[in-house]
Amino acid sequence: TGLITLDPGYGNTGACTSAITFIDGEKGILRYRGIPIEQLAKNSTFVEVAWLLIFGRLPSQAELDDFRERLVRSAPLHEAFKHHFEGFLVDAPPMAILSAMVNTIACFPRRGAESESPEENFLENAAQLISKVRTIAAYSYRRSMGLPFIYPDFKLPYVANFLHMMFSTPYEQHIASREVVDALNLILLLHADHEQNCSTSTVRMVGSSQANIYASCAAAVGALWGPLHGGANMAVLDMLEAIHKGGISAAKAVEMAKDPNDDFRLMGFGHRVYKNFDPRARILKQAADKVLGQLGVNDPLLDVARQLEELALEDSYFVERKLYPNVDFYSGIIMRAIGIPTNMFTVIFAIGRMPGWIAQWKEQHDDSKARIARPRQIYTGPNETEYVPIDKRK
Ligand code: CMC
Repeated sequence: TGLITLDPGYGNTGACTSAITFIDGEKGILRYRGIPIEQLAKNSTFVEVAWLLIFGRLPSQAELDDFRERLVRSAPLHEAFKHHFEGFLVDAPPMAILSAMVNTIACFPRRGAESESPEENFLENAAQLISKVRTIAAYSYRRSMGLPFIYPDFKLPYVANFLHMMFSTPYEQHIASREVVDALNLILLLHADHEQNCSTSTVRMVGSSQANIYASCAAAVGALWGPLHGGANMAVLDMLEAIHKGGISAAKAVEMAKDPNDDFRLMGFGHRVYKNFDPRARILKQAADKVLGQLGVNDPLLDVARQLEELALEDSYFVERKLYPNVDFYSGIIMRAIGIPTNMFTVIFAIGRMPGWIAQWKEQHDDSKARIARPRQIYTGPNETEYVPIDKRK
């Protein structure tokens, strides 16, 4: 064991090289393929960013059109696929459904699967995943509400199509406003990759055994589900609601979060890598103000959020530990304002992160030097111990 270095939570272990995403946590910088996140947030779309992450550069118009076309064609689920949803109880967590269903995609015939070109095969798989995860997400919501499934509309772009599948009814098409579509596009774009976080490391861990891309991404959904990772966006809303409804003051909540004898943490605060404002949170904070203003939403939870932020940013506990608001702090407020139910928040994160998972799976797959991930341990159990027959045990 002398040769093994212990690094709990891999805080200081580089597990791979990667050319996809750059983060400087001290300065609060995030770039996808070298392009600052602020520029992408201002000028790009989720679908274009997906292509950028996966293929390493911005697409030409023809490449982007081709990719969009593939996403459109990949949106429907096989009719037999729909029966899988019926196996779940209506109140099953959408993340459980999503994880199972991402794996299930690979069990159905898919376009491109028969292709002899590995590039074509990969491109189709990528499009299938990015497109179908959205259909599955919407269907899991419809199932939970006891509503009929709504087929994708081939004329609608990515985000509008998702909102259509979520909220249209057989007798009335839901038309999302420009503001709502833009806000969701922004949220997805900002979640699209974040280097070796827990779910992405899971993709690489599972993919390193040469498991297929669907199995790798399904495992990542499980990792994302936890409240310390993607589940934090739901936890933020639950926390803001509890504070608001319980009549707890923001100051009291901050005190509770600081108390070492209290498990309560300020959800949406802190990050393993960012020791400065999360640049995604900075963008979303502005977007939250704008969207809520445009939609005329007056949300008391936003006031609670603002108070918490103000208090925490001035409090020595948070300052010393460099705990700043992260992406989840504001994304939930925007999603709530545009009508996404709280139990779908982490699913939206999964839709957003899918291009990153795919890009990282590909990078590892293309790396001829990649090895199976197999960490070591430092054993702390008993020394050699004799087996005791059952009648002699105390
Ligand atoms: N509220 C109160 N105290 C906190 C918080 C918080 N949100 N986050 C960290 N701390 C304290 C923690 O108690 C510890 O204090 P001490 O040194 O006195 O023991 C210190 O700060 C360091 O925390 P840590 O748990 O060792 O840090 P970590 O790098 O292991 O955890 C984290 C990072 C994001 C899991 C953690 O900050 C946290 O639990 N935040 C709340 C959940 C959350 O918002 N997660 C979303 C992360 S961003 C999106 C994503 O990646 O999914």
